[in-house]
Amino acid sequence: MNKGIMIVCDGSNGAGKTTVIKAIEKFLIDSGHEVVLTREPGGTPIGEKLREIILSKENPEMTDLTELMLFGAGRAQHIQEKIIPSLNAGKIVLSDRFDAATFSFQHYARGLDFDLVKSVNDLAIGSFKPDINIILDLDPKVGLERVRGRGDELDRLEDEDMNFLIRAREGYLEQAKAEPSLFAIIDASVSLEEVINKALITVKNHLNK
Ligand code: TMP
Repeated sequence: MNKGIMIVCDGSNGAGKTTVIKAIEKFLIDSGHEVVLTREPGGTPIGEKLREIILSKENPEMTDLTELMLFGAGRAQHIQEKIIPSLNAGKIVLSDRFDAATFSFQHYARGLDFDLVKSVNDLAIGSFKPDINIILDLDPKVGLERVRGRGDELDRLEDEDMNFLIRAREGYLEQAKAEPSLFAIIDASVSLEEVINKALITVKNHLNK
């Protein structure tokens, strides 16, 4: 059986991730692929329960280490229950965020030690890496205005100070610099149509590899 591929769409809050992911999903289905749409935090029943705990503003006392380990626990469940079986069945897994988010948010933004973050992530997924991370890059000030403009409530992490979100953004750019073959950075300050076009070009290039 063919091994599937894993595409992750990630990046700044408010950059249009949900719309871009829907467009990628449609393109893949129209091209005859079987697609498993998923997300982090979340993706499994256990992961979705953890998501509620992680993002709830009713948990301001959550320590940085607890937060990291909850993301790790959700990812450990996600990979075993959903991602690996889907890839083994030859499907395309399309995930709204994955491991790069932990390095950006828990290491670069929160300031947890890189080796600590890596060890929790390694516990969850070992040497597994998604095939491509499409990163929608946007000034967090613009991103948060868009989130507020949609009338969405900010979650516990979006509600951190602006420097937190600026550092998270830099985290994605640094990771892309370190492993350019695993990342595609897309400027999300332009129209959503242009962002979608660029994301689809990245996906097409990847499928033709
Ligand atoms: P979102 O699903 O609306 O993008 O919200 C998820 C939030 O969780 C977002 O602020 C990024 C954050 N996050 C982390 O801090 N670490 C992680 O590993 C993941 C997957 C998400």
